[in-house]
Formats: sequence, structure tokens, C-alpha cells
Amino acid sequence: MNIPFREDSKFCSFFPRSKSFLAIFVAILLSTCSLTWAQDSTAAAGAGAATAAGGGDAAKGETIFKNNCAQCHAVSDERVVGPGLKGATTRNNIAWLTKWVRNSQAVIASGDPYGVKIYNEYSKAQMTSFPNLSEDDIKGIFAYVDNAASAPAPAAAAVGGTSAAGAAQSSGPSDLFMIVLVALVVVMLLVLGVLVVIVTILSKAVTGEGEGAAKGDFMTRFGASLKRIAGDPAIRSATVWIFVLLVIKATLDGAYSVGVQQGYAPKQPISFSHKLHAGEYKIDCNYCHTGVNRGKSAHIPSANICMNCHGVIKKESPEIQKIYTSIENNTPIEWVRVHNLPDLAYFNHSQHVNVAGLDCENCHGDIAKMEVVQQRSSLTMGWCIDCHRKTDVNTKDNKYYDKLVQLHASDSKQALKVADIGGLECSKCHY
Ligand code: HEC
Ligand code: HEC
Ligand code: HEC
Ligand code: HEC
Ligand code: HEC
Ligand code: HEC
Repeated sequence: MNIPFREDSKFCSFFPRSKSFLAIFVAILLSTCSLTWAQDSTAAAGAGAATAAGGGDAAKGETIFKNNCAQCHAVSDERVVGPGLKGATTRNNIAWLTKWVRNSQAVIASGDPYGVKIYNEYSKAQMTSFPNLSEDDIKGIFAYVDNAASAPAPAAAAVGGTSAAGAAQSSGPSDLFMIVLVALVVVMLLVLGVLVVIVTILSKAVTGEGEGAAKGDFMTRFGASLKRIAGDPAIRSATVWIFVLLVIKATLDGAYSVGVQQGYAPKQPISFSHKLHAGEYKIDCNYCHTGVNRGKSAHIPSANICMNCHGVIKKESPEIQKIYTSIENNTPIEWVRVHNLPDLAYFNHSQHVNVAGLDCENCHGDIAKMEVVQQRSSLTMGWCIDCHRKTDVNTKDNKYYDKLVQLHASDSKQALKVADIGGLECSKCHY
């Protein structure tokens, strides 16, 4: 009967819905674009500053640096195990640095004056060789080092500094990234507003209802459309969508850094100093951490081990008295654990220290210089895998590997890597 009315209502109920679908689509598109823009622009900002060091990829360099170099080098001029890398690119050119990083021993053996000098200066400590880093990787590292070194102090502290606050600074999206993001959201909203104004004007032109409004002056019309925009369900849903997408993005970023505690250095119940005991008095790590050569855990020494010396040394010190109290009350000293893998991962010290012949420093940094122990490596899965990919198995004087080495040599010219003996298999590290 009432056909025109029904058609009209159908049209009306369909139109706003299709409009809101359109708006949601546009919103998703724009926010995805903006996220990529934002990332690109931060990367570009990094790369822009990096061109000084030969155009290396500083973002990639940062990852490589943190996984391989941070335990021994700071990006500032602070001395860790090796020298602070600030200004390394002015001391030597990139060709020298590439040779050095790939095999510093070869550079020293060739009689290179700077190499020999620094080797002696650091009491002939051997730097790990990284034969598998490409030229671009190394350029990237130094691009990152130059960036970080020229940035204000907090950035340097996040990598090699001794403050626990460094951990907080190294995680989470950068400030620049957030600013760019917010700016983009504002721009996006403006663009959307304009789009909707156009859509409303067009749809009015089609339905012809805009004639009355056209009589008012421009400002009233503008005000009226703004009001309509604010009330428009399409705009509202678009705004909600953008918001939701940003929250998801922030959560994902956050999730990747959950549990990563690089830089963690909690205060201990007794101010025990590795710098004093392992550094100045040169007490062997093994003397206290008796498990490193024998088993999975390195072990934290019991109070009895402390008493071997402190039964006579510095008995009157209040800090030493805490050891006595612990023994008298038969309550263990409650050291705060620094390094801690989640239960799902299996890590064995003797495999790495005894079998592979790695130094503690490779993973823990220079403990013998730390007043308070700090976690220097990230301890992420990527960190383990990265090392397994590029470290040669220590096959010397190990009959267990003889046959494997022969087999490997018959189909590859590369040295036997941990990856080749199953170091990348999930079940080796996961229960
Ligand atoms: C196990 C500790 C250790 C690791 C890991 C390490 N280095 Fe070194 N590095 C040293 C030591 C020690 C020296 C001082 C020279 C020597 O004793 O051989 C040094 C020296 C250097 C120098 C010369 C410094 C100068 O005065 O300009 C550069 C450059 C360098 N390292 C870069 C790197 C890079 C890049 C990485 C990571 C890919 C890295 N190192 C990883 C210990 C390390
Ligand atoms: C005199 C005994 C003693 C010696 C020697 C010693 N440590 Fe320790 N170490 C401790 C004690 C006690 C703790 C626990 C308190 C702390 O974290 O400072 C500890 C903690 C640690 C931790 C952190 C453990 C955690 O909670 O994750 C590491 C890593 C470590 N030591 C490595 C070393 C290395 C490497 C050396 C040799 C250079 C060494 N230690 C020498 C007594 C010692
Ligand atoms: C091999 C001997 C030895 C062992 C084992 C040892 N210490 Fe010491 N410790 C020393 C010496 C030496 C000093 C320096 C004393 C001085 O300054 O006169 C010292 C100093 C200290 C101090 C500083 C005291 C002060 O007030 O200046 C603390 C705290 C301390 N040790 C804690 C420990 C703890 C905890 C353990 C066990 C995990 C331990 N030590 C194991 C030799 C040892
Ligand atoms: C290949 C890397 C690597 C090397 C080399 C290494 N560690 Fe560790 N260390 C770790 C990891 C990873 C953990 C955390 C283990 C966990 O949570 O199960 C750890 C934990 C520790 C702890 C805390 C207690 C424990 O066993 O969980 C101490 C102490 C320690 N290491 C001392 C040493 C000493 C001393 C050496 C040298 C003799 C050494 N580490 C060599 C990676 C390494
Ligand atoms: C500094 C380099 C380095 C790091 C970092 C490292 N590993 Fe290893 N890992 C080795 C080497 C070298 C071997 C080979 C030891 C051997 O000869 O059996 C090895 C062997 C292993 C093996 C035995 C593999 C096999 O096939 O027998 C396991 C399991 C393992 N690592 C777990 C881990 C875990 C988990 C981590 C991180 C928390 C880690 N590793 C970090 C160097 C490293
Ligand atoms: C060399 C040792 C190693 C190997 C090989 C390895 N993982 Fe891991 N994985 C770890 C360590 C260590 C962690 C914990 C580190 C962390 O929390 O970041 C981990 C964490 C994980 C997690 C949990 C991530 C999280 O956020 O809690 C998953 C899932 C995982 N690994 C899957 C795998 C799979 C699948 C493989 C085989 C393709 C594999 N892993 C091989 C060492 C290893």
C-alpha cells in the first residue's frame, strides 16, 4: 500500500550503514598506513643521522650490537670489558673496523699499530671474532653507535650504563615514535572530517535537502556540519576503530618487551661486590659458583663459603655481621635473583662453560668490574639462537665430535656451527 514510504525507509536505513562501513574501512586503511609511515619515519630519522658512518642501517645495527657487543662495550666512552665505542669511527675507518670485528686477532697478528696498542692496553683480553657479520651489519652497528653516542646520556645508559633505570629506557616505543603517531592521528581525524563533510554535502545535493541550509552564512553552515559530524555514528565508529587499533599496536609493542630485563640490577641484601672479590682479590668465579663446570646451574654460594674468609676477615663490619646472623638463625641469605629464564626454557652452564669453552663474560659482561651485578644480555630466545647460528663448536680435543666434523667437512666448507649440531632445534631448549 504505502510503497513510497517503505522504499524510503529502506533507503534510509541502508544508507547510514553503508556509510559507516565505508568509514570503518577508511579508518582501518588510514591507521594501517599511518603505523607504517610512523615506523618508516622513525627508521628514516635513524638512518638520516646514520649517514655519517657510511649509510648503515642503525636500527638493525642496534639489535646486532645488543646481542653481540653490549656485554663488553658501551656506546659511550665508558670502559666495560673493552673500550667504549664512542668515536671508534673517528679513530679508525670502516674498513679497519670491519676487519677488526671479523677477526681482531688477525689484525693484531698483522702488526697493526693501533690494534697492538689497544690489545696491550686491555691486558691482552681477546675480543670475540664475528666472521659472519656482513659489511652492512658492521656499518649498521657503527651507525647505531654513532647515533647513540651523540644522543644525550640516558640513551647510552640504556645499553652499557650501570643504572637499573637503563632497563626502563631501553624498552617501549621511543618518544619520537609516539609524537609522530599522535600527529598522524590528528591529521587522520582532520582528513576524515573533510571526507565526511564532502560525503554529507554530496548526499544532500543528491537528495536535494540542502537548499534550506544553503541560505545561512558560511560559518553557521560550517558549525552545523561540525555538529552533525560529531553526532554522526560513522565518525564515532571510525574514531573508536582508530583508537582500538592504536591500543592493539601499543599492546603488541609492549608484549615483545615483557620479561626482557636487560640492565636489571636489583639491590642485594648484603652489599656484596664482585668488583672487590672477583676483580681486586681475583677470586676465581668457580670458587663461589661451583656449578658452572659441572651442571645446569651455576649455584649461588652459601654463607659457609663466605665464612671460609670472613670467619677472620672484617668480622666487625655490619655487612659481614649479616652473614653471621644468617648462619646463627639458620636462614639463608635472600639474594635477589638477577638472571632468570622462564621455566619453559632449558639452559645448562656446563655445556657452555665446560664443553663449549665460553667465558662468563660472553654472556654476563664484565662481572669482575661490577659493584652490583647487572644483567647485560637480553636472554631472549633470539639472543640464544643468534649465538648458536654463528658460534663454532669447540671441537678441539673432543673425540665426541671427531666423526661429526669429518661428516660436516665432506659437504660444507664452513666450520661446524652450533646450529649444525642441533642448536636450533626447539626440543634442545624447550622441555
Ligand atoms: C668478550 C668481550 C667482547 C665482545 C663480545 C666484543 N668486544 Fe670489541 N673489544 C673487546 C676488547 C677486550 C677490546 C680491546 C682490544 C683487545 O683487547 O683485543 C675490544 C676492542 C674493540 C674495538 C676497538 C676499539 C677502539 O678503540 O676503537 C672495536 C671497534 C670493537 N671492539 C668492536 C666490537 C663490536 C662491534 C662488537 C660486537 C659485534 C664487539 N666489539 C664485541 C671485547 C669485546
Ligand atoms: C666470593 C664469592 C663470589 C665470587 C668469587 C664470584 N661470585 Fe658471582 N655471585 C656471588 C654472590 C654471593 C652472588 C649473589 C649476589 C649478587 O647477585 O651480587 C653472585 C651473583 C652472580 C651472578 C648473578 C646471579 C643471578 O642472580 O642471576 C652472576 C652472573 C655472577 N655472580 C657471576 C660471577 C662471575 C662471572 C664471577 C667471576 C668473574 C663471579 N661471579 C665471582 C658470589 C661470588
Ligand atoms: C676468598 C676469601 C673471601 C670469600 C670467600 C668472601 N670474601 Fe668477602 N671479602 C674478602 C676480602 C679480602 C674483603 C676485603 C676486606 C677489607 O676491605 O679489608 C672482603 C670484603 C667483603 C665485604 C665488604 C665489607 C666491608 O664492610 O667493607 C662484604 C660485604 C663481603 N666481603 C661479603 C662477602 C660475602 C657475602 C661472601 C660470600 C658470598 C664473601 N664475602 C666471600 C674475602 C672474601
Ligand atoms: C652461554 C651463556 C652463558 C655463559 C657462558 C655463562 N652463563 Fe651464567 N647464566 C646464563 C643464563 C642464560 C642464566 C640464567 C639461567 C636460568 O635462569 O636458568 C645464567 C645464570 C647464572 C647465574 C645465576 C644462577 C643460575 O645458575 O641460574 C650465575 C651465578 C651465573 N650464571 C654465573 C656464571 C659464571 C660464573 C659463568 C662463567 C664460569 C657463567 N655464568 C657463564 C648464561 C651464561
Ligand atoms: C655466546 C654464545 C652462546 C649463547 C649466548 C648461548 N649458547 Fe647455547 N651453545 C653455545 C655453544 C658454543 C654450544 C655448543 C656446545 C657443545 O659443543 O655441545 C651450545 C650448546 C647449547 C645446547 C646443546 C645443543 C646440542 O645440540 O647439544 C643447548 C640446549 C643450548 N646451547 C641452549 C642455550 C640457551 C637456552 C641459550 C640462551 C638462554 C643459549 N644456549 C645461549 C653457545 C651459546
Ligand atoms: C637455543 C635455545 C632455543 C631454541 C633452539 C628454541 N628456543 Fe624457544 N625460547 C628459548 C628461550 C631462552 C626462551 C625464553 C626467552 C624469553 O622469554 O624471551 C624461549 C621462548 C619461547 C617461546 C615463548 C615465548 C614467550 O614469549 O614466552 C616459544 C613459544 C618458543 N620459545 C618456541 C620455540 C620454537 C617453536 C622453537 C623451534 C623452532 C624454539 N622455541 C627453539 C630458547 C630456545
